[in-house]
Amino acid sequence: MSTLTKVLAEEIRKIEETKFTEMNLFPHRLTHHLMPPAGWLNDPNGLCYYKGRYHVFFQYSPFEVKGGLKFWGHYSSEDLVSWRYEGVPLYPDSPMDCHGVYSGSALAEDDTMHLFYTGNVKLDGDYDYINNGRITSTLHVESADGIHFGVKEEVIPASQYPEDYTCHIRDPKVWKEKDQYHMVLGGRKKNDQGAVLFYRSEDLKKWEFDGELTTEKPFGYMWECPDVFELGGETILSASPQGVRREKYRYQNIYLSGYFVMQEGMVQTENFREWDMGFDFYAPQTFLDQKGRRILIGWMGMPDADEEYQNCTLEEGWQHCLTVPRELKYQNGKIYQYPVEELMNLRRWEKKLSQEDREVETEGAFDLELQLEKGPVKVVLSDVFALEYRDGILTLTMDEEAGAGRRIRNACVEQVKDIRILADTSAVEIYVNQGEVVFSSRFYGKSPVHTLKTEADKFRGGFWTLEKMKVTKA
Ligand code: FRU
Repeated sequence: MSTLTKVLAEEIRKIEETKFTEMNLFPHRLTHHLMPPAGWLNDPNGLCYYKGRYHVFFQYSPFEVKGGLKFWGHYSSEDLVSWRYEGVPLYPDSPMDCHGVYSGSALAEDDTMHLFYTGNVKLDGDYDYINNGRITSTLHVESADGIHFGVKEEVIPASQYPEDYTCHIRDPKVWKEKDQYHMVLGGRKKNDQGAVLFYRSEDLKKWEFDGELTTEKPFGYMWECPDVFELGGETILSASPQGVRREKYRYQNIYLSGYFVMQEGMVQTENFREWDMGFDFYAPQTFLDQKGRRILIGWMGMPDADEEYQNCTLEEGWQHCLTVPRELKYQNGKIYQYPVEELMNLRRWEKKLSQEDREVETEGAFDLELQLEKGPVKVVLSDVFALEYRDGILTLTMDEEAGAGRRIRNACVEQVKDIRILADTSAVEIYVNQGEVVFSSRFYGKSPVHTLKTEADKFRGGFWTLEKMKVTKA
């Protein structure tokens, strides 16, 4: 470890040590969502299952609650409901990543965990940092135990990226297919078109350019955090496009996250489907676990959001969280996302709901399931939000104060058959029709006590309080 790394490690240790116990007393700290121990969190990185544990790394700015210099933070778990905070595995401590250890992925092989990520370097001078002044190369590190990582090595220098791209190329996602390794990177072309770049390798060290992929007409100027995977016999390309014009019933956030079902190796704008219709969702990543499940975790936040959008956790010294792990299933051209079944282990006190008994007082985290018959439906969590379905449109309306700048989000859906609401102290994930449509949002109520009320002609439901996940420190 260099002296610089030792100093950074010691400073982080001090911040995390005091915050770890003290911060958990704050009212907005979450009970079943992963958060930064202190400071800022964004994208999930390096998701994998390795030697008996799930690993979730994340973009982490321990020193700056509003984001800044990026490190990687690291949680691990055996069962997806009790977690161990493993500390900081990657520091921006080399000339190749001194302005940020940016996003990337893991490849878990039998005896080695490989991490690939983007080293961000900004040169001093009068640059725009889009077309010039920024060097982003692809870096690689290895680990035998999944906790301690070796020497950083540059596997694709920025000078080898295609010439018609700006300096914005990043976020490698690596996977193995037959005997070949593949990598997808997100990029911004010089004509301001978002695209992905493919590379392939025999040995994970030497990578060859293997083509690019984008839509016929530009769909945004930059595609971040791409992912490619097989699901239900289809090849899926997931990406987070920036610069797509907002519309009333879709594309409502400043930046989007969604996927294309690839057709003969091509992607079409008309086939882009958003992962999540809520206010707080970006830069998701997926991985395959030992049970063969394709699991997705997203960042429950939004970069460069509108000025009125706030997180009332700033005064508590932290910002943002990850979504719960969601299992993906492909059905009739769409991907359904549903909380992994392990989360049901957190369910405690139970109450049945029906049209005769439609109200329940809540305090803190809960899980709600509703089965509905045709017709309009409204679910209101007093002082927090109302979810309403009418004439083919689902609308999530946040309470003015609790929404902290979040107001209305819509989604088109033919019918509402079931609703699942996973609510935490200051975060909610709403799954409609077994995850055909999902809304994720943060909220900041005045009190942890609310009334949950369902209005529908005919329904059955279950309500559970949720126990807190166990989070320990290595
Ligand atoms: C997405 C992103 C990535 C980048 C990382 C930096 O939120 O902008 O493209 O690698 O965040 O933190």
